[in-house]
Formats: sequence, structure tokens, C-alpha cells
Amino acid sequence: MKFAHATTVDFPSFENKPLNPGLCEPRKVNFQFNNIPKLWLNNSSVLTHFFNAMNLFLPAFESFMVRVMKNQLPCIKNTELELPIRGFIKQEATHGQTHQKYNKTLQAQGYKFRTALKITDFFFTEVLEKYLSTTMCLALIAGFENIASIISYVGLKSNMLATADPTMRSLWEWHFAEEIEHSGLALKFLNHLDNRYWMRALGGLLGAAIVVVLLVFGMILLILQDTNFANKKTFDDLRKFLFTEYKFIPLMFKGVIPYFKFKFYPELEDLYQYAEKVFPYSQTN
Ligand SMILES: [Fe+2]
Ligand SMILES: [Fe+2]
Repeated sequence: MKFAHATTVDFPSFENKPLNPGLCEPRKVNFQFNNIPKLWLNNSSVLTHFFNAMNLFLPAFESFMVRVMKNQLPCIKNTELELPIRGFIKQEATHGQTHQKYNKTLQAQGYKFRTALKITDFFFTEVLEKYLSTTMCLALIAGFENIASIISYVGLKSNMLATADPTMRSLWEWHFAEEIEHSGLALKFLNHLDNRYWMRALGGLLGAAIVVVLLVFGMILLILQDTNFANKKTFDDLRKFLFTEYKFIPLMFKGVIPYFKFKFYPELEDLYQYAEKVFPYSQTN
């Protein structure tokens, strides 16, 4: 079996399977999180914990998506949609398991977050799944997935992981590229069952709010546990990340706003070029 890394680092991390948005087949993974430095990206609390905060909550997000979509599979009356949705579900399940594995490494590094994860799990299983309709849950998932594809696009286009620890770079580039590969599918699934504008818009708003709250909370929770976090570098890194070098906030707004247009079609062709750098056709053809 062939495993690959996104660019030049040579070690096995994920199966080398070309990008195929028509099927979204999951790739086998082989991530080993031994010897990951605590600040694995530019020795920066801000940059490292942006990714670590996503990592904390992704297993809860992804298992929610897997449960809801699996339950709704019998409602799909179209094999062209069913096949990639089945792939989507398997990809998200692998993402969740892999990030769960890295959470154990974070725990071993001394970070404390068990209560935060318990509350998040409770929120997904006992609040969202119990009190929202299935269609609303799907609208929420379409909203999460829209944010995920924007973060993936920003992360791959800006090459922000270029100087990261090689395993962590590989982990995030693999995940970002699969997010792009199955981008737009959750929205197609929602539209297949319910294509009312307000449903998509409400799911998009609620989805964005949940992601932002958890991401900001997770970053603060982890940054506060680093020694010497209150220094000039932390504030400089935050400014660079949000506004100047990576322009995370302006790019997120630019990406999210079109989702609320009455007629919205994700521009997937523009995205695929970034995922193809991670899953290149040339290596397998
Ligand atoms: Fe994912
Ligand atoms: Fe996804």
C-alpha cells in the first residue's frame, strides 16, 4: 500500500489515493504522534493552539455528522448522491478517530480539557440531536462543512503549515484536502431533502456560531495552560494570524458571506487545485 505526504517530507502518513470528489473514498491512515513538540507550529502558542483547538472538538463534530447522515441514508433517492455521501461518512469517521488519537497526545503533554469535551459531547448528543429536527441537524452540518471547506482552503492556499512539525503538517493537509474533496456534499444532501432558503441560512448561522464559540474557547483554554504565554510574541502572532499575515478573519468573512445569498452554488473547481497538491494524480497514474 502506498502512503504519501502532502509535499516533500518523506514518511508514511496517509494512503496515496488521487482526489475523486465523485466517490470521496476514505484513505487509510498511519499517523504516529510520538515526539510531537508542544508548540509544533512556528513555536507559537497562537498558531499551534488554533489547530489544537480544532483537534479537541473535531471528534464530537464528526461523530455527530456520521450519526445524523447514516440515519438519513435511506432517504436518498439518487445513487449519484448516495455513493459520495457514503464516502463522506467514512472520511469523517476516519478524521474523528485520528483526531481522537492526537487528543491523547495532547493529554500526555499535560493539557487538561476532559470536562470541556464532556460538555461538548453532551451538547451534540443530548441537546442538538434530541431537540432539533433531522433536517435542521443536516442544515447545521451543511453549515459546519461550509466553514470546514473555507478553513481548508485558507490553510492550504496560505501554506501556513509549511514550517510545522512534519507529522502535524501531514495530518492537517490530509484532513483539509479530504474536506475539499467532499465539500458541498452535505449541502446537496440537505437540498435533496429540503431546499428551503431559511433552513440553509439558519443552519449556516447556527453552524458558524457553534464553530466560532468552540474554537475561541478551545484556543483560550489551551493558550492559558502554556507557561509564559503572556508575552509580546503571543500578541504579535495573534495579530498576524487574524489580520495581517494569514488574514484569517477577513478571509473567513469573504468565504462565509456568499453562503447566505439566496442562490448559492459552491465554487468547487477553484478549491480542487489545492487538494490536488496533497493528493496528486501524477503519483498514482
Ligand atoms: Fe472532517
Ligand atoms: Fe467534512
